[in-house]
Amino acid sequence: MENKINEIRTQAIAEIEASTDLKSLEEAKNKYLSRNSEFNNLKKGMKDLPNDKKPVIGSLLNKVSSELEKLVNEKFELFYIKELNERLLKEKIDVTLDGDYIPQGHVHPLTQTVNEIVEIFGHLGFSLIKPEFSPEVELEKYNFDLLNVPKEHPARDVQDTFYCENMPNVVLRSQTSNAQARQMMNSKPPIKIISPGRVYRNENVSARKNNLFHQIEGLYVDKNVTMGHLKGVLNEFIRLYFGSSRPTRFRSSFFPFTEPSVEIDVQCIMCQGKGCSVCSHTGWLEILGAGMVDPNVLRDVGIDPNVYSGFAFGTGVERLTMLKYAIDDIRLFFNDDVRFLKQF
Ligand code: PHE
Repeated sequence: MENKINEIRTQAIAEIEASTDLKSLEEAKNKYLSRNSEFNNLKKGMKDLPNDKKPVIGSLLNKVSSELEKLVNEKFELFYIKELNERLLKEKIDVTLDGDYIPQGHVHPLTQTVNEIVEIFGHLGFSLIKPEFSPEVELEKYNFDLLNVPKEHPARDVQDTFYCENMPNVVLRSQTSNAQARQMMNSKPPIKIISPGRVYRNENVSARKNNLFHQIEGLYVDKNVTMGHLKGVLNEFIRLYFGSSRPTRFRSSFFPFTEPSVEIDVQCIMCQGKGCSVCSHTGWLEILGAGMVDPNVLRDVGIDPNVYSGFAFGTGVERLTMLKYAIDDIRLFFNDDVRFLKQF
């Protein structure tokens, strides 16, 4: 028995020592230390030995198996570290190499302004209009008739408004005020909405004018809405958009669908009211048109002007953005020049 054990021991040590990598070491380990190994079978045969032999053989078996395990573990560590180092060397990443440049886009400055204004009016209780009440391709009825714009009014002239070919009475809306008419025809007061969107006018394109631009319309209709509410809301909007130190001025004006009407100026951002070329040396910049909804308009959309009143306003997104960031050419918003866009 002892001879057999020593024979296996010598053979096992030789094979373990001869292994050259994790794979061959694993093979040797299985051969000599696994459950079905010859060595293990000797352990199983212990029970058939005479009692006086058991302690000697038992301790010899234990001694040899821990000796072999120790040897396997030492070899394993050696091979493991060697193979790990080889792999790390092979898979090494040079972090100093240039990466692939993936340009990242961001929100267009006009959209940023719209988002900001929508948020400000959200704080003042205005919600965003449903898109179906604010279409860009519109019937004359909503862009003009229901807004009290007479048939012969110059704004309807093909010079200003884009009419759709072969489609009588269909226009590209010239103002977001079309949303007022649609909203009021389709819902009951209280109404408190804003409606941002594109508008189109047949203008000669210049640094100040483009034939596509963006407006934001607001409408508040309820019982007892007054000019005081209009002033309060729009002053608060200007304070939140331009900052608290910016004086405003309400000037009497005219729009067919509001009575009375006002235009609202903010003190010139560039010269602080002293007078410069941006404000045509007046010290003021016009930024909003507004007024109390004309009783005729309320009546035409089915709202009783004896019970309800309201105010409406409209503002230009390009103009507000240009003033805030001192941009001097409206065409920059539409040219897709990354050098401009990436500044926002
Ligand atoms: N729609 C007007 C314009 O484009 C602005 C406006 C809106 C005026 C609402 C009064 C009320 O000039």
